[in-house]
Amino acid sequence: MRKVDKSAAVIEAIKNFDFKGTLVDFRPFGNGHINDTYMVRFRYDGKIRKYIMQRINSTVFKNPEGVMSNILGVTAFLREEVIKNGGDPERETINIINTKDKKGFHIDGYGDVWRAMVYVVDAISLDLPEDNNDFYQSAVAFGNFQRQLAAYPAETLFETIPNFHNTPVRYENFLKSLEKNASGRADNALPEIEFVKARKEFTEILENAYKEGKLPKRVTHNDTKMNNVMLDKDTREPVCVVDLDTIMPGYSVNDFGDSIRFGASTAAEDERDLDKVHFDISLFETYTRGFLKGCGGILTEEEIMLLPEGAKMMTLECGMRFLTDYIDGDVYFKTHSEDHNLVRCRTQFKLVEEMEAQWDEMKRIVAKYK
Ligand SMILES: Nc1ncnc2c1ncn2[C@@H]1O[C@H](COP(=O)(O)OP(=O)(O)O)[C@@H](O)[C@H]1O
Ligand SMILES: [Mg+2]
Repeated sequence: MRKVDKSAAVIEAIKNFDFKGTLVDFRPFGNGHINDTYMVRFRYDGKIRKYIMQRINSTVFKNPEGVMSNILGVTAFLREEVIKNGGDPERETINIINTKDKKGFHIDGYGDVWRAMVYVVDAISLDLPEDNNDFYQSAVAFGNFQRQLAAYPAETLFETIPNFHNTPVRYENFLKSLEKNASGRADNALPEIEFVKARKEFTEILENAYKEGKLPKRVTHNDTKMNNVMLDKDTREPVCVVDLDTIMPGYSVNDFGDSIRFGASTAAEDERDLDKVHFDISLFETYTRGFLKGCGGILTEEEIMLLPEGAKMMTLECGMRFLTDYIDGDVYFKTHSEDHNLVRCRTQFKLVEEMEAQWDEMKRIVAKYK
């Protein structure tokens, strides 16, 4: 690790952006796990104005220019949508602050990429929902995001992480890892390996639906966690979604599905006691109701009927990625025990099994809200 005076680096970075007024102070902010986030305060016109500054994690984002180009395109579009609908464009979307030389980001002397945006006032983000309504509102927020961006030309976005949710490609990578067995641990995971192999055909369902013209590519968020939603601090209704780093062309059903994978499970992703891990179908219904309300009719009927596939696909894919990393020898995910990735993969497969057992009910629920 290189030694850097973090404060000095922040001050240096701040100087490059087109903030108005005089700097009051800054401090580390939020619970993000990817970027370094700071809240920066300026005094202008006798008032305090708050901003967010972030150092983008360049290990995760290999193409920061592409990431920023996606964010600038999408936020400019969202701003127009919000204005058209009589909303507050300073609050209902992220607003990027340009650098003094009119760029969306700044690269410092260490090669780190910085960006700045307007702080969304009077809003909170939660790591976990405090009640069903919070979960419901997060679904409305991600549904709104789909609705607002329905007319955005998704194909113009950079695919900043190639094949991110291309499950058949992930499956091929799993087979290659198995073939190599770099960790020598494949024998410890024989039932899990069989579990994935038995679902090879399923992994192709969404890609095939796309090829047959039944599933459109849309702007997807790709990190549809609770804490990437800003809720109004008083009404607890959605204000906007943040963390737009992984915006890419993709399937709405996968954005939906990743929220279900995480949010409709009764236990943590790395719970060892599988008796505690269940797919909560009432939470699935809550999220479906909110998501489709937010989408406001822009999803096609075929797309809506594929929402259960999205939920199962994201859960299976995630489990498969944990399993692949276990076989590779824990090279991608951070682990805290020798079998951490195997434990994680088992929780995901337990959820997949429970979804399969309640498949007809899942289909009935999405049909009810379409
Ligand atoms: N423009 C903003 N206004 C207010 N809070 C923000 C803003 N952007 C981010 N945050 C807060 O900072 C947290 C981390 O930022 P995020 O962009 O999600 O980074 P990470 O990729 O590290 O998760 C968010 O969960 C949110 O609480
Ligand atoms: Mg985040």
